[in-house]
Amino acid sequence: MAATSDHSTTGATAPAYYVSTPIYYVNDRPHLGHAYTTVAGDVLTRWHRQRGEKVWYLTGTDEHGQKIMRTAEANGVSPQEWCDKLVEEAWKPLWEHLEIANDDFIRTTQQRHTDRVQEFVQDLYDKDEIYKGGYSGPYCVGCEEFKLPAELLDGATEDEKLCAVHKRPVEWLEEENYFFRLSAYGPKLLEFYAANPDFIQPASARNEVLRFVEQDLKDLSISRSTFNWGVPLPWDEKHVLYVWVDALQNYITAAGYGSDPERFAELWPASVHLVGKDILRFHAVIWPAMLMAAGLPLPKRVVANGWLMVGGEKMSKSNLTGISPTDLTSHFGVDAYRYYFLRAIPFGTDGSFSWEDFTARYTSELANDFGNLASRVAAMVGKYFDGALPAAAAPGDAEQAIADGLATALATADRKIGEELDFAGGLAAIFEFVKQVNGYLTEQEPWKVAKDDSEQGRARLATILYTAAEALRGTAVMLNPVMPSTAEKLWTSLGAEAGLGALAAQTIATTADWGRLPAGSTVTKGEILFPRLEEKPAS
Ligand code: MSP
Repeated sequence: MAATSDHSTTGATAPAYYVSTPIYYVNDRPHLGHAYTTVAGDVLTRWHRQRGEKVWYLTGTDEHGQKIMRTAEANGVSPQEWCDKLVEEAWKPLWEHLEIANDDFIRTTQQRHTDRVQEFVQDLYDKDEIYKGGYSGPYCVGCEEFKLPAELLDGATEDEKLCAVHKRPVEWLEEENYFFRLSAYGPKLLEFYAANPDFIQPASARNEVLRFVEQDLKDLSISRSTFNWGVPLPWDEKHVLYVWVDALQNYITAAGYGSDPERFAELWPASVHLVGKDILRFHAVIWPAMLMAAGLPLPKRVVANGWLMVGGEKMSKSNLTGISPTDLTSHFGVDAYRYYFLRAIPFGTDGSFSWEDFTARYTSELANDFGNLASRVAAMVGKYFDGALPAAAAPGDAEQAIADGLATALATADRKIGEELDFAGGLAAIFEFVKQVNGYLTEQEPWKVAKDDSEQGRARLATILYTAAEALRGTAVMLNPVMPSTAEKLWTSLGAEAGLGALAAQTIATTADWGRLPAGSTVTKGEILFPRLEEKPAS
């Protein structure tokens, strides 16, 4: 958690921009699919910080339920020991490695969570939103989800039914449970979706939810009595709370619900819940209904990302590519990794990872278009002006076009990344600008102008190089949320800190103000931003 304390927003009262990831099951180590959602949330929240907004970014781990319990048993340790080990050895280190700047990390076994969860369900019980009944039906432990018979696939025998996601047999549950009156919320939910057309995104996800809720909702079984790895129901401790009902509450327990009213008022309702499309119903149906029952406001948006696929199936524990996030970062670097998945796959649609595609984008977009531009400009300022950035003596139409290009790229990226979560579209706009600056240098040919020693020639050269450096100043700010280390290297190479302060302190609002980078800034060649790739490691 790189930036925990810098971005703390405690104490203020204006609403913060609050983004959450799903909390991940710790039955195994994180894979590319988990990292995909977490990086997206990090870019989104860094973008909003760059706007100068108060931001709160939450991630964490989902530690209760049968799946975790069985994994721990199979490994001969207690569930708590298993969770502690995985969180400390696998999950937190990966987020740190990927430079995820989350403000908090919630674990559902923490008392700050379990105490509040008990209060929340007790409140629903007292309001008669929960009643006792009997459940019998299929259950998939992989999904931790009660299934409808119609959703299942046929198995090897006549009696065997398979989960459509995990392709593994479901289990038949027959036990006394407590139920939440979900069925009462269908009409209220439909009314809410109609009044808030942006609540579920993208449109395909919204339609799926509408179709589901338009059919009659069934009451939801919210407790289990045949195992004990969960939060006990306060009024009947023989039962533990169904893991999803426990997990969803992380979004409020971490935000100060029931413990810190001032902070809760500042953070809740969340601005965006990021979820994979596999867990959309939990977030867009069950969670809003639970909040309605408790009398709490609903989150502003639930945005579903598509799946990273392997061989036509959702990448999961059982069908991994055999490639871990760190295999890719050790070859391409962390920043290229953060860039690649968001640039290559339109957010909300499924996509596949390919080593060849990653290599092609690294080479053409990052190393050639962007990295070379940065090093060429720095080299020329070094060679022709001893590293002291000259003032733009006589800017003309060509320079105005670059200034306009920056303003357009910035406005487009701000809308697409900051509002629409169209990361691919926003990055395309930024890299369009990078191409424009390359085209400008190709046309202006500063290396030829440099041969003209006259006052006019020197003035022209100064104008061209100032323009290119100033364009890079804007690019560094726009790319900072996506590739923070690279942007920092560029900022250092431009000598921008002396005149403009830290990169993190630059705001989106002022970035298109042309001429911010002071003449006289000390430009140095610095590190190569995207070094030539080694041979692909043998797999
Ligand atoms: N613990 C629940 C979530 C509870 S939230 C209150 C859970 N955990 S999970 O470990 O299975 O992670 C689910 C999330 O990881 C998905 O919703 C998605 O955000 C991300 N992804 C996991 N596999 C993925 C892909 N193959 N592709 C893209 N995202 C994926 O469900």
